[in-house]
Amino acid sequence: SRTVKVALLGAGSVGSQVARLLLEQSEAFAQRAGARLELVGIAVRNVDAARDVDLPTELFTTDAERLILGADFVIELMGGIHPALELVTLALASGADVVTANKALLAHHGPELFEIAERVGAQLYYEAAVGGAIPIIRPLRENLAGDRIERVLGIVNGTTNYILDRMHTEKDTLEESLRIATDLGYAEADPTADIEGFDAQQKAAILASIAFHTEVPVTTVSREGITGISAGQIADAERGGHVVKLLAICERVTDPDTGIEAVSARVHPTLVPADHPLASVHGGNNAIFVESAAAGPLMFYGAGAGGVQTASAVLGDLVSAARRHVAGGPGLGESMDADLPIVAPEQVSTRY
Ligand code: NDP
Ligand code: HSE
Repeated sequence: SRTVKVALLGAGSVGSQVARLLLEQSEAFAQRAGARLELVGIAVRNVDAARDVDLPTELFTTDAERLILGADFVIELMGGIHPALELVTLALASGADVVTANKALLAHHGPELFEIAERVGAQLYYEAAVGGAIPIIRPLRENLAGDRIERVLGIVNGTTNYILDRMHTEKDTLEESLRIATDLGYAEADPTADIEGFDAQQKAAILASIAFHTEVPVTTVSREGITGISAGQIADAERGGHVVKLLAICERVTDPDTGIEAVSARVHPTLVPADHPLASVHGGNNAIFVESAAAGPLMFYGAGAGGVQTASAVLGDLVSAARRHVAGGPGLGESMDADLPIVAPEQVSTRY
């Protein structure tokens, strides 16, 4: 069958899991994508660095540009703006489809990257950039394209949700919880991005842009992180029947005088009533609560951070990219390649 060459940029928390799964499950991917997805190399800063996942040493290189120029698809999981911007630009300009989880890059340079992609007929996929493993980009862009979204309320940062949750349940400090969240692979390389709300701000800009079909620059999203939250405030919130959550709030607003409609996006710690679905989002999970005119309230929930969880979203994008490219492949629809046997309900435990 046909082979497509895949270059991976970055082998940290997410990249190392993407590489592992691509290598371990190559047969399944070949069937599902309609082409062999050959991992041709992994660009990193230090080829000798110790890694959590055992990967073939011959795949590693520090020459990202050369790797990109020999690939059909490029997966960018380095993070940060530079050199990710230059490398993604090079990949798109050379006609490669790109998959990225880099919300900082998209929030700051998305429009110019989409323009390059459109010019050359390449695609830029970014399901993993918001909500980790949770499918939210495609649902907003595609499934809800026929509806009118009024408001999006998101717990979109796993690190800060983990920290706030522990402040509520374990009476733990921000510093200690951040240390654990970092060990779990949730935090950004510079965790200031998490605790000061920059990461959530970038995600809010991406969500608002898609939800409201309007380019929402990240600089227009107001931001307050969680470093000012004290144990006393957590206790006060609980006494009042609330939990403190860092929310990204994106909404349509109407000027009462002129009737003119606009979009507003902000990120700040919020008192959420204890009986609201967002209050029961624990640990590193995320949830995006969408209020739309026809569908009503919808909630998208799951692992918002973590290497292997995020790898799921990245690999889903890669399969979509491959299907798009492969003539005679299974196309964008569902494929039934696993062909598992069906067992009757009475043959398995029905306990949840
Ligand atoms: P890590 O910091 O764990 O890994 C980054 C990787 O990129 C490392 O392998 C590093 O190389 C490589 N790298 C960094 N800079 C360069 C450079 N200048 N040249 C070559 N290689 C470089 O990041 P994560 O895996 O946590 O995150 C990757 C991306 O995914 C980020 O954009 C992040 O925001 C996003 N993301 C992360 C999630 C998570 O839960 N971790 C969830 C959703 C999105 P070396 O190993 O040699 O240092
Ligand atoms: N640092 C981010 C978080 C990773 O904690 O949510 C997922 O985007």
